[in-house]
Amino acid sequence: MAKNVVIVGATGAVGVEMINCLEKLKFPVGKLRLVASERSAGKVVKTAFGDVVIEVISEKVFEESDIALFSAGSGISKEWRERVVKAGCLMIDNSSAFRYDNDVPLVIPGVNSQAALNHNGVIANPNCTTAIAAMALWPLHKEFGLKKVIVSTYQATSGAGAKGMQELIDQTRYLYENRELGKQGVEELLEPEKVRVGAGKENGGPEFFVNQIAFNIIPHIDSFQENGYTKEEMKVLWETRKIFGDESILVSCTAVRIPTLRAHSESIVIETAKPVSASAAREILQKAQGVDVVDDIANNRYPMPINAAGKFNVEVGRIRQNLIFGDHGLELFVSGDQLLRGAALNAVEIAQLFI
Ligand code: A2P
Repeated sequence: MAKNVVIVGATGAVGVEMINCLEKLKFPVGKLRLVASERSAGKVVKTAFGDVVIEVISEKVFEESDIALFSAGSGISKEWRERVVKAGCLMIDNSSAFRYDNDVPLVIPGVNSQAALNHNGVIANPNCTTAIAAMALWPLHKEFGLKKVIVSTYQATSGAGAKGMQELIDQTRYLYENRELGKQGVEELLEPEKVRVGAGKENGGPEFFVNQIAFNIIPHIDSFQENGYTKEEMKVLWETRKIFGDESILVSCTAVRIPTLRAHSESIVIETAKPVSASAAREILQKAQGVDVVDDIANNRYPMPINAAGKFNVEVGRIRQNLIFGDHGLELFVSGDQLLRGAALNAVEIAQLFI
């Protein structure tokens, strides 16, 4: 049955992909409404469901919609939750606002779809890093039982939204135009003070990210917690446990922002309860939904963000026995489009559970 759908944050990096996913998954959209800030209101967006005029948020939008896909930040989700639920519209929220609430299911379709059916009006979409890792980890957990998971991430600027991507482009351009790195070559690159951009946006300096992102990496995503981890890193522990329904899994993560535009990568080490081999894991992952095994080292084929960007499936490769945990451990490398699997695709797949 057709559903009236509203996307809140429709002009953002994730919102735009939500429109695309509705089309690509052939979601039965009755009326599509697009909500953004006052800055965008009145603009017309061409979609597969017709031309849609962007509106500002209002109760009426939710009264006239069956499903609301939210991706405009935690603040807006919190502010509107009650009114969306009261209007009888199912809220599928991409922010972190409600992920850890006991009465809000946190869902990856194909992993814990069943949990979505017990909602109280709101279903949370997981953090992108968790969702991408889970595509590889869930089939391995079912077969071998995960005891410990150690993750190091390589996260694209799009994880911070459209503004994050723009800052990488602006800083890179600034460095080329003003420092002439391209012309002067490697000697200049060897003198760090000539590379580092000046403070403030007018000098190409950091504005959105806390440090320079062009020609650099930043081991700091979201705020630092009392234990020295960042919130982004702790989310991988909290969310993996909730989605897998297993509070005993131990997860530790270091999350790093890198100067790519799109698709996150993760190096993952696992310790398993049952013995595991690279070939057994490969066989299981080859059959897993939402996963492409890209693991042909003889031909230099392994997951890379440049190939994973724009794909629904998460690439998994570099699968090998781990030198520390021996026959109870593996290493793997994953790349997945965090705007899709880590956000828009997951949200639309949740919506599909209610058609
Ligand atoms: P706008 O483009 O008009 O600012 P991103 O995370 O990629 O930066 O996207 C954030 C999304 O949230 C954008 O679509 C943005 O719209 C939207 N947004 C920001 N503030 C509001 C608001 N007060 N009401 C509705 N949407 C908003």
